[in-house]
Amino acid sequence: MAFFSFFFFLFSSVLASSLFFLFLRPTRFRRVRLPPGTLGLPLIGETLQLISAYKTENPEPFIDERVRRFGPVFTTHLFGEPTVFSADWETNRFILQNEEKLFECSYPGSISNLLGKHSLLLMKGSLHKRMHSLTMSFGNSSIIRDHLLVDVDRLIRLNLDSWTGRIFLMEEAKKITFELAVKQLMSFDRCEWTQNLMKEYLLVIEGFFTVPLPLFSSTYRRAIQARRKVAEQLGTVVRDRRKESENGGRKKDMLGALLAGEDALSDEQIVDFLLALLVAGYETTSTTMTLAVKFLTETPLALAQLQEEHEQIKARKKESDQKHLQWNDYKSMPFTQCVVNETLRVANIISGVFRRAMTDVNIKGYTIPKGWKVFASFRAVHLDHEHFKDARTFNPWRWQKNSSGATTLNAFTPFGGGPRLCPGYELARVELSVFLHHLVTQFSWVPAEDDKLVFFPTTRTQKRYPIYVTRKNETRQCKDSHLDT
Ligand code: HEM
Repeated sequence: MAFFSFFFFLFSSVLASSLFFLFLRPTRFRRVRLPPGTLGLPLIGETLQLISAYKTENPEPFIDERVRRFGPVFTTHLFGEPTVFSADWETNRFILQNEEKLFECSYPGSISNLLGKHSLLLMKGSLHKRMHSLTMSFGNSSIIRDHLLVDVDRLIRLNLDSWTGRIFLMEEAKKITFELAVKQLMSFDRCEWTQNLMKEYLLVIEGFFTVPLPLFSSTYRRAIQARRKVAEQLGTVVRDRRKESENGGRKKDMLGALLAGEDALSDEQIVDFLLALLVAGYETTSTTMTLAVKFLTETPLALAQLQEEHEQIKARKKESDQKHLQWNDYKSMPFTQCVVNETLRVANIISGVFRRAMTDVNIKGYTIPKGWKVFASFRAVHLDHEHFKDARTFNPWRWQKNSSGATTLNAFTPFGGGPRLCPGYELARVELSVFLHHLVTQFSWVPAEDDKLVFFPTTRTQKRYPIYVTRKNETRQCKDSHLDT
């Protein structure tokens, strides 16, 4: 997935592919009409410009400048390979829809080592199709309504119960999304086992964002060891559950669905599959939660309107003596959905996706040569004024019906599209909405420090977004009490 794409392509493919293209390009590619652009310096191309832009709060000039000079589809050279960069929604759509016909995703070996070769992200062909649809059906609205929502609500409340004083929102959000994932995948509630799993799992995640060379990086070595341990722990669970299901027991979780599936998957396949799901939903959803709060804090009018919406829901529930959020509560959060959309649009947790052309592909009068990388940039489209008026401002109201702020709805693809459309898209939205409900009805907060957004190697805030929280029924500000001690 793109959240780790940027970094790893740099190290994994730099040498081999750069030398290949350096020598072959002049003869092979003179014949085709490439999109305009520059390949930058030998070997490194324009990678350093991109990285230095994405390490700032405002990476847009990297794309803006090139779009201005060359148009929305341009040639560049990133992470060791010539790349066609698309800032054009129609081209992005074409790339996504033609998965495994004209384009395929390709990850360096270092990623496969951490993810496991049987992960959904690396699967191809008919097995991918079946497993993607199994995953989609596991996270569809009716399953969320009937089974998952109750745990989403309970686990978020449980986590928020322990909040006091100064917290790092990013860390707290990660705890929430990890616990939710473990529950949804394997029906485990927080316990010593899940805490240990999380420790090892965090080491695996670190491995995704470091130099993937075992000889040079102790972080990568540690990540590989941790991956082995996580796989062992998950393997034990899978074996136990297999026995259980052979004796007629079946839990309604992802593991249950995998064991009951038609594909007779091996333990190793199931472990890889579960681990990749854990990776895919964890960082993305927790970062979106954190950034929603950051954007709302910086937009007090939106926060006030969101609070009003949720106080009304809370009051309704009090009247009917209901404690937990139900599906109809989720469905009566129209402004929250605007906030979720707008956070996804502005934050661009997944800034785009890399693919490789399987054949020469003609598009918009140009040719993308076989074997070339393409990058479909969602970020470029989401922040394009042509599609979203005043696109670089957080404006949740643009998503309201009859608003003039949102224009090209097809251009909004935070969850990708085509055969690899994110199977967790609905679940992520529900988790975000429930989180916001409990946050704004139970707490007020202020930032504890200035914190900046950066976009490389992932989208995150530099300081993990520290805030002071105050429980709404507390009379004294936590901030004050914290400062008093
Ligand atoms: C705000 C949260 C999320 C965002 C922005 C997001 C975004 C994306 C995007 C853009 C893709 C497409 C990648 C590609 O085309 O190469 C994707 C794929 C995927 N996502 Fe998500 N995702 C989120 C949450 C989740 C959750 C909660 C889960 C777990 C249930 C999940 C599981 C996956 C999986 C397994 C794939 C791979 C699908 C495939 O290759 O067939 N995501 N996600």
